[in-house]
Amino acid sequence: MSSFWKVQSVHRDDLCSGYGFVYNLKSFTVLRILSILICVLEHDKHKQFMLRIECEKIRVLKSLKTARRFRNIRPSGIRRLFSLANGVPDIVRLGIGEPDFVPPPHILEAAKRSLDEGKTHYAPNTGIAELREALAEKAKRDYGLSYNPDSEVLVTAGGVEAIFLALIALMNRGDEALVSDPSFVCYRPSILMAGGVPVSIPVLEKDNFKLDAEVVMSLITEKSRVIITNTPNNPTGSVLTHDDIAKLGKLAVERDLIVISDEVYEKIIYDNAEHHCLATFPGMQERTIVINSFSKTYSMTGFRVGCAMGPENLISAMTLAHQFITACVNSPAQHAAVAALRGSQKFVKDMVNEFDRRRRLLHSRLNEIGGFGCSLPQGAFYAFANIKEFGISSEEFSERLLNEGKIVTVPGSAFGRYGEGYIRISYATAYEKVEEALDRIEKIAGNFM
Ligand SMILES: Cc1ncc(COP(=O)(O)O)c(C=O)c1O
Repeated sequence: MSSFWKVQSVHRDDLCSGYGFVYNLKSFTVLRILSILICVLEHDKHKQFMLRIECEKIRVLKSLKTARRFRNIRPSGIRRLFSLANGVPDIVRLGIGEPDFVPPPHILEAAKRSLDEGKTHYAPNTGIAELREALAEKAKRDYGLSYNPDSEVLVTAGGVEAIFLALIALMNRGDEALVSDPSFVCYRPSILMAGGVPVSIPVLEKDNFKLDAEVVMSLITEKSRVIITNTPNNPTGSVLTHDDIAKLGKLAVERDLIVISDEVYEKIIYDNAEHHCLATFPGMQERTIVINSFSKTYSMTGFRVGCAMGPENLISAMTLAHQFITACVNSPAQHAAVAALRGSQKFVKDMVNEFDRRRRLLHSRLNEIGGFGCSLPQGAFYAFANIKEFGISSEEFSERLLNEGKIVTVPGSAFGRYGEGYIRISYATAYEKVEEALDRIEKIAGNFM
């Protein structure tokens, strides 16, 4: 191959020619002029043609524009910290939002068995009948709710898909979706992608990080269509009481709001706190889409199985979107999910007991370290620690914990404007690791003041 020919392999960000004198040129125009000159000098029409194609490719790649709906969407602040932490040795990860447990053998066996039995084909769009039936049975058993497994239950690729489907099924362009601030990182981007407008509901520490119906009321406009609730909560660990939800429910009924109730942490709850499914409140089942998942309860994050339950017309619109985006959730994972629901629940109890031990450790030790303020989380596996006394931003705080202590946490600002002044610490990591992280924080936190 002649050295000239290598010009063909020119790349957008690494423009270099086989002649060795056009290295790292960012401007394709310069390259184009040089290349044309070279080709003209070489009198080779074919090479000239190939060069023109390469240059055109670069021009097209440079000018490619994505849809406007992506303009206000940024990558999750969680991922940024994880990328910074990549490859750092001896690191303690308190950033991750997934249980560190292996699902129990009966769940794994069910997945393997389904493969051995040749259940490797497309599943029905809405999910395998056995799983939809098991989900409807669970709703009846846990909350006394009746859902028709054939028309009111949809199996999705995790809770995140269910949330997105609910939003695209509900939102017209410009409709407003009320969402807590701080809140789970997926809500705002999903609302934007669905063409909606996210409206932040400030959720403050002085109110124990709970959605306050009066604050919600003050934010409702004629464009308000949806409210997303999440109890037990990520990132704050708060849990709404019966009374809190009753007020929100009343408001939703009065103001004709549809509720997307994200209940993926329903089983991870401590002390005397109780989880109340929003659909059980008066007038709510017909206006609530309940989102759930196997990721947290059964430590099945990688299986990607979640679900939505709600009124038939909404589930049917969500099914249409699901059909054309995902087609169906993978079959072995669905069989594993059936085993999770129908099998022993001892694993869940043991896991929550272990989270509880870590939660107490984190809460008591963190509060002993000067500068931190941390309320005892009532659910999920996150502590949302107040770091305002340190006088630096949550992003800088998390980065310093990473650089100086090799501890990964998530800055509160990743969850919304009102998350500033906090860091999220996940205790879905071994007790000893949480202990190690606390030892390190104790040593270095004084330097941050
Ligand atoms: C509040 C909340 N909802 C939904 C999800 C989605 O989980 P998955 O898609 O794994 O079911 C998460 C995951 O972190 C979460 O924290």
